[in-house]
Amino acid sequence: MALLDILVYPDPRLRKQARPIETVDQSVRQLVKDMAQTMYAAPGIGLAATQVNVTKRVVVIDISETHDQLQVFINPVISSFGETIESEEGCLSVPGIIEPVARFSQANVTALDSDGMPIELHTEGLLAICIQHEVDHLDGKVFVDYLSQLKRDRIRKRLVRESHSERPTSCDKENAPVI
Ligand code: NI
Repeated sequence: MALLDILVYPDPRLRKQARPIETVDQSVRQLVKDMAQTMYAAPGIGLAATQVNVTKRVVVIDISETHDQLQVFINPVISSFGETIESEEGCLSVPGIIEPVARFSQANVTALDSDGMPIELHTEGLLAICIQHEVDHLDGKVFVDYLSQLKRDRIRKRLVRESHSERPTSCDKENAPVI
């Protein structure tokens, strides 16, 4: 297994459109393992392949408190619905930034698991938010895109500045999910 480098906003590679996986083979399973290890080490509760510079439609999520309930979504297709809920989100590609984002409260998901078997599930709450956030990544979208231009500019400047310094990113909102 290997820890993968996570791209940081405003890296233009985060804008790439990920391609579907044609065959869930050993290389895909290895990617899933490496992504899971990278997500747990970060630590975060979700990671899309786009964030580790792999343009394939692969997502890993673990929203459990025990960090042992890995969920793998290959070629996820979602239909989001329900009421709009606003909650604070963070992202491993936007370190140290937590901002409120409006999402749908529920999402139906179809995907393949790491054995290539079709899965279908109904999600709500945090898992629904997570899957919407990750599928956005696969489509080249980052959560800061939902914020105002002013906020986005401020975040971009801060992250560019921090990329040139050794100072670790600090965040005062430790409880928000980092996806
Ligand atoms: Ni993210």
